[in-house]
Amino acid sequence: MTSPSTSPTLSAKYNGAANGHGPVAELRRISKTYFKPDGSVLVEALRGIDLCIQPGQYIAIMGASGSGKSTLMNILGCLDRPTSGAYLLDNGNVAQMDDDSLSRVRGRKIGFVFQAFNLISELNIVENVEVPLFYQGIPKAVRRERAIEKLQAVGLGDRLTHRPRELSGGQQQRVAIARALVTDPSIIMADEPTGNLDSKTGQTILQLISLLHQAGMTIIVVTHDQRIADRCQRIIRLRDGELESDSLQSQDNHSGYAPGDES
Ligand SMILES: Nc1ncnc2c1ncn2[C@@H]1O[C@H](COP(=O)(O)OP(=O)(O)OP(=O)(O)O)[C@@H](O)[C@H]1O
Ligand SMILES: [Mg+2]
Repeated sequence: MTSPSTSPTLSAKYNGAANGHGPVAELRRISKTYFKPDGSVLVEALRGIDLCIQPGQYIAIMGASGSGKSTLMNILGCLDRPTSGAYLLDNGNVAQMDDDSLSRVRGRKIGFVFQAFNLISELNIVENVEVPLFYQGIPKAVRRERAIEKLQAVGLGDRLTHRPRELSGGQQQRVAIARALVTDPSIIMADEPTGNLDSKTGQTILQLISLLHQAGMTIIVVTHDQRIADRCQRIIRLRDGELESDSLQSQDNHSGYAPGDES
């Protein structure tokens, strides 16, 4: 297995926010309420969240089951809209966009890495990585070139024609990371990215994510695992739909963060 740390392409710097200034994402008084059919409140899943995410930060979202992590992730990832509040993504408010506009923003600005990899079994890995570019209408030759470049960057240049099932779990997650990177998104969102991997393979994936962080990528990880959070520079804890804490950790590997970056 090729170590991701040997990959030269990952040393290239990512831009973070598209314009390089200010926060990449900012939530202002974000609430998400689920209603019963009769219009009465069922659950207040998020209650007045304020959050400012600077380009290049590596953030863990933690909290007990039901605290609102997935709800927050879905809003940050443009998969869902808040009930109220503003969400500025690369300075544009996406909080009340219609479905089509929101999915276009999502396709351009967010790269997702899921616990279950979510690869398409009928496609080989280059074709899998090309999928987000296909939805952007990018010509085939360009798609192929970019997909191969990202697969090489995650150390899978020698597996291009393999189907997902012909790869190990860690390799499949690397394909998913290449797919998340292929659109050059503003933020990578990972939901329990090592949840389906043994601990050694999980460590390799975390190393790869750390390399992306060191290259300047903004990364948000939802996790129950304190060992994953320990690698992050900022830990956001939710409790009953509110921010319980938002803390910076002092670690040596926190490149990309400069004191004073916090709002
Ligand atoms: N579609 C929905 N309709 C109604 N209530 C919902 C819906 N989705 C989530 N909830 C409620 O919102 C609250 C937050 O849910 P969420 O899925 O964000 O929690 P979580 O922190 O991700 O939990 P877990 O760690 O178990 O994944 C929970 O009380 C949940 O029951
Ligand atoms: Mg969840």
